[in-house]
Amino acid sequence: MKKVCFVCLGNICRSPMAEFVMKDLLCDDELVIESRATSSWEHGNPIHHGTQGIFKKHHIEYDFQKSSQQISHQDFQDFDVIIGMDTNNVADLKEMSQGRFDDKIFLFVDGGVPDPWFTGDFDATYDLVKRGCEQWLAQLRNS
Ligand code: 4NP
Repeated sequence: MKKVCFVCLGNICRSPMAEFVMKDLLCDDELVIESRATSSWEHGNPIHHGTQGIFKKHHIEYDFQKSSQQISHQDFQDFDVIIGMDTNNVADLKEMSQGRFDDKIFLFVDGGVPDPWFTGDFDATYDLVKRGCEQWLAQLRNS
């Protein structure tokens, strides 16, 4: 079973949104989905209330005990597909893994997902995340 990891800067807004939106789209346990941060800034902190609000609004089940976790060396080995939510995340992932796992590292959507930590617009984030997850799921099912 393929293991997929969504990664953003803090692992409290965008990547947990992608994690639980994707899990909501899955049939059975067809993929393993997790999320991580490139930074340790929010380590141990819960999912942002803006992202939790989106889950509630769209009736998406999530783990309210999920807390921010920085991506580790082991994660680079263990995951098959590592998806950065924006171009900075992808650049950071490639730098952190020193080019050893470039074939597993991808950008979530063209142009990336703007950070709602700064924009405050979690609904716009959700629209992009939902569309991106649908595209990734179709692609992962075909590969
Ligand atoms: P995320 O958003 O990368 O989508 O989780 C952010 C969360 C925290 C910070 C920046 C972005 N921060 O500066 O702490």
